[in-house]
This record gives sequence, structure tokens and C-alpha cells, in this order.
Amino acid sequence: MSTLELQNIGKSYNGIKVLEGIHLSVAEGSRTAIVGPSGSGKTTLLRIIAGFEVPDCGQVMLQGLPLVDHKSWVPAHQRGIGFVPQDGALFPHFNVAGNIGFGLKGSKLQKQHRIDMLMDMVALDRRLASLWPHELSGGQQQRVALARALSQQPKLMLLDEPFSALDTGLRAATRKAVAELLAEAKVASILVTHDQAEALSFADQVAVMRNGSLVQVGDPQELYLRPVDEPTATFLGETLVLTAHLEQGWADCVLGRVAVDDSLRSGPARIMLRPEQIQIGLSPQPEQRQATVTSIDFAGFVSTLSLLMADSDETVEIKAISRGAIYPGASVSLNILGQAHIFSR
Ligand SMILES: Nc1ncnc2c1ncn2[C@@H]1O[C@H](COP(=O)(O)OP(=O)(O)O)[C@@H](O)[C@H]1O
Ligand SMILES: [Mg+2]
Repeated sequence: MSTLELQNIGKSYNGIKVLEGIHLSVAEGSRTAIVGPSGSGKTTLLRIIAGFEVPDCGQVMLQGLPLVDHKSWVPAHQRGIGFVPQDGALFPHFNVAGNIGFGLKGSKLQKQHRIDMLMDMVALDRRLASLWPHELSGGQQQRVALARALSQQPKLMLLDEPFSALDTGLRAATRKAVAELLAEAKVASILVTHDQAEALSFADQVAVMRNGSLVQVGDPQELYLRPVDEPTATFLGETLVLTAHLEQGWADCVLGRVAVDDSLRSGPARIMLRPEQIQIGLSPQPEQRQATVTSIDFAGFVSTLSLLMADSDETVEIKAISRGAIYPGASVSLNILGQAHIFSR
């Protein structure tokens, strides 16, 4: 049985559609990431699931029971859903222990024991228990917010861009820690983010949101390698999109003859390659396309190479790992790995 089922959720504000036709299923103990640009409706959807917002239509089911449909409405505090908002939203007039223990029941000793356990769980030093929220770093505040949400032993955890205030290094470490923690606690979770790398790394299911609709839902690799359309492809990572002519599983394009992932399509099409599918060689290979490097935009680990193709006199821009051996004027050959993807829309 899935933990959460959303069916046909819709929401408008002042006659403007913010969400439309949202269907999503979250499996028990799994991690889902909803990724989309700012303003696409991600927070609104989380707030509907949590019970802070009422949808105009649709159904929300938790463990097979309706939370929202045409005749039921379960209030937020009875849903058993944890929510970690974007800014952590700690109570400023409670210290760390007060925040984490806010909704706990039992004797003073029992509560203390539970707070200690929760702090260990989110890897917060117990000595921080008496500090005030403003005395904590961004990462520590997020961990307190997470511990507070976990204290209610939720069936589902909602995380609204919880890592966006953290620096890059801490962000990756916190994300990994939270993912492991949720897996250990066997709590299904939905992470909302506008960062595609974060979504791909965190989740076993990624849902791409655009203008209030989920345009594609699937496992991270599937979405990255086989996006439904060009905007989804470019949103999920570096992409090379080329016009091509298709015939029996092959595409003729500026890079030569490339195998494609749909042998039934023929005629003109747009095809997609990820930069890691393009190998740039320094010694010319007769069977490979040749090009001359016309310019290099160096950006550290990766550089953007402008390549003038020998056969067609067309220029292609390709992202590649920076290498000192490639310089403007160098002759290179291109080897394509795997298949190019053809968009279904
Ligand atoms: N309470 C509200 N009243 C009116 N418009 C809102 C309200 N909440 C969100 N919106 C609008 O809905 C759209 C989606 O917002 P939001 O769900 O916050 O997007 P995201 O989290 O993806 O950035 C935005 O255009 C926003 O202005
Ligand atoms: Mg938001």
C-alpha cells in the first residue's frame, strides 16, 4: 500500500490556477523529490498535503484513508504528517530542547529522554539543548526543525527546501544525513526543491513540476536520461539538443550518425545528448567526426568548448571536463557513447 495518494488536485488563487490535475503516489518508506522552478506551485502542494491549505478539487489519501475529498477534511494536527518549512520556523522564545519537546507528552524525565534521543538522531550535540534558535547556525536550526517534526512520529515527512540556506558543502552533507535518517526511521518523505542535483541525489522518485502541473514522474536516472520534453531535459542538467533526421534507430546530425533510443521514429526530430556521452579525443580517429576547437570558456572543473565541425562547417558548443591538452586551434575527434534520446513531445 502506498503511504500517500494524490488524485487530481487543483488549486486557484483569485481565479489564477496554481495547481492543476496533480496525481502522485508515494510508496511506503520511500523518498520523493518534487523539483521545479520558483513559483511553479511546490509549496502550495505541500501545504495542501499538510492540511494548511484546502484544494479546490481532488483527493488526498494517507495510508488508504481520505484526508481530503468531497466529504472529508482532516485538520493538520490530526494527520500525522511532519512538516519542515523553508526557514525552519523554530519558536524563537523556546530553546532547542523546548522546540524539540514542544508536542511531546509524558513526565519531565520521559520528555528529557526523548529529546536526547531525537538530538542524537539528527546528529545534534546534546550540549546545544539550552541554546536559543538565534544562537544556532542555519544547518543546526534545520536539524532542530527536523527533530521537532520527527518527535511526532509522522507517517509522512514533508520538507520544503530545507537545505537552501546552507553552504554547498554543508548542504550535501546535511541532505545525505537527512536521507539516511528518514530511511532508518522508515518514514516516507517528500522533499521540495528548485535544485535538480539535490532532487536527483535525494530521491528514489522525482516529480518535475512546471506551471502547476507534474510534467514527468519517475526514477532519477530515467528522468535524467529520458526526459519527456526539451524544457524538462534542460531543467534536469546540462544538455546538448540537436536537430536530426531519423531513420531505423539512427539519427543523422551535426555530430554524424548517432544511435537513438527509439527505432520506430523516422523523419525530422530533435535529439538530446548529455555531455558525458561525448568523448573528446586528441588523436584523430578515421571513423569519428573531426572538429577544431575555436574557443574555450573555462569555468573550473568544466569548460564550454566551441567546436567547428570539419564536415559541415557548423559550430557546436559542448561542455567537457577541463583538460590542459585541449586548447584553441586543437584538432579533436568526437566519440558518442550510448544512444541519443528522442523527446516524446
Ligand atoms: N496564499 C496565496 N494567495 C495568492 N497567491 C498565492 C498564494 N500562495 C501562493 N500563491 C501563488 O501561487 C504560485 C505558486 O506559489 P508556490 O506554491 O509558493 O510556488 P513554489 O513553492 O514552487 O515557489 C505563485 O504564483 C504564488 O504567487
Ligand atoms: Mg516554495
